[in-house]
Amino acid sequence: MNAPNSHANLGAVLAEAVLRYRARNPNSERQYASAVQVLPGGNTRSVLFHEPFPLVMERGEDCWLWDADGHRYLDALGEFTAGLYGHSQPAIREAIHAALAQGLSLSSHTAREVELAREIASRFASMPLLRFTNSGTEANLMALALAKVHSARRKVLVFDGAYHGGVLSFGAGASPLNVPHEFVLAPYNDLDAVRAIVAREGAALAAILVEPMLGSGGCIPGAPEFLHGLRELASGCGALLVFDEVMTSRLASGGRQAQLGITPDLTTLGKYFGGGLSFGAFGGRADVMARFDPQRADALAHAGTFNNNVLTMAAGLAGLRNVLTPQALQGLNARGDALRARLNTLFAQQEVALQVSGLGSIMTLHATRAPLRSPADLAGADARVKELLFFALLERGVFMARRGFIALSLPFGDAQADTLVDALADSLRVHRAVLPRPA
Ligand SMILES: Cc1ncc(COP(=O)(O)O)c(C=O)c1O
Repeated sequence: MNAPNSHANLGAVLAEAVLRYRARNPNSERQYASAVQVLPGGNTRSVLFHEPFPLVMERGEDCWLWDADGHRYLDALGEFTAGLYGHSQPAIREAIHAALAQGLSLSSHTAREVELAREIASRFASMPLLRFTNSGTEANLMALALAKVHSARRKVLVFDGAYHGGVLSFGAGASPLNVPHEFVLAPYNDLDAVRAIVAREGAALAAILVEPMLGSGGCIPGAPEFLHGLRELASGCGALLVFDEVMTSRLASGGRQAQLGITPDLTTLGKYFGGGLSFGAFGGRADVMARFDPQRADALAHAGTFNNNVLTMAAGLAGLRNVLTPQALQGLNARGDALRARLNTLFAQQEVALQVSGLGSIMTLHATRAPLRSPADLAGADARVKELLFFALLERGVFMARRGFIALSLPFGDAQADTLVDALADSLRVHRAVLPRPA
């Protein structure tokens, strides 16, 4: 529990920070005024919006960004994990240029899609067969549809606070935009609750869909015993276990599943696997995925004009082959673990009720010290605290998500970690009086 000290002033301090932001960013504000004329709320990707208007970025290099008003930022957001390679990885740029030189939209099979599939299958033991899509959302849509057809069952068990895409969103209840599957909602990290649901509904469950760590839901890791328990429950009732590793695949070479020694029936991927371009993939058990073999009499059709688009295939392949070695990934996640530890030590030393949760190179800042096992544990946090720190970090040249999300990229090294820690330490020093204190 956080003591409600000084919170009366928090609103005023935040309002001043917003005023300074507005004054510093006239070009972004101008572009926002123009954007609202053609895009609802000036926006075509909801997560990027924040009051009073979001920054317009003009260019990026390595782990740095420059906005429309000429400010340079350390990019600690890393495109919500999709920017793992940074903004200008030479091998990826070269591969894109080489693919461009051979022409776009070839209307047929290409060698690169086989090579990229082979690279992924070689890392993910549970994915001997896979198919590409254009986004993580689409990968999850296909995985669920496949699970329903495969099992001839109707229901899908998902978790409170989970995010599997814009039409598969379960933060703060189910989104009205969700696809109309028969979802059964369970609390995250609560195996007893899932056990009770499976006892009741198991015979109707086509799939259990789970993020090994809630990503958008606040970087709350799934407890290993919870995820192992889901494996057993799914096998027991004949549902397919679908791991959404759109974010967590970057925690180790074979994803979070390799770290935990769990073999899901299906896995979905996205984000950085396209080398920074649009990407999604789903795959898994050969007997299940084989339904997409067009030569079968009972074949399922899986379409998508851009599933094998040459730029994504080329960029994704170059990234996996030339850049993202298991050692590079290990180093990136070790830097993330070290950064998270430093930040949590800083918060303890400064006696502020903040914490950074997550795994490896993916993390979220929270305005509470409560132990986090599900999004319900975040209920007591005052959202204005994160907002204030977001603006404070921007003033100090560090860019993270408004909701406190941070994802490191490969070029983000120890010097950049120092920059982030120093900026946050200075923000705490200046704003300490209005920050929550541990009870
Ligand atoms: C765990 C998870 N699944 C699925 C998605 C959807 O991926 P996309 O934005 O590529 O559709 C996301 C995106 O943030 C995600 O974090």
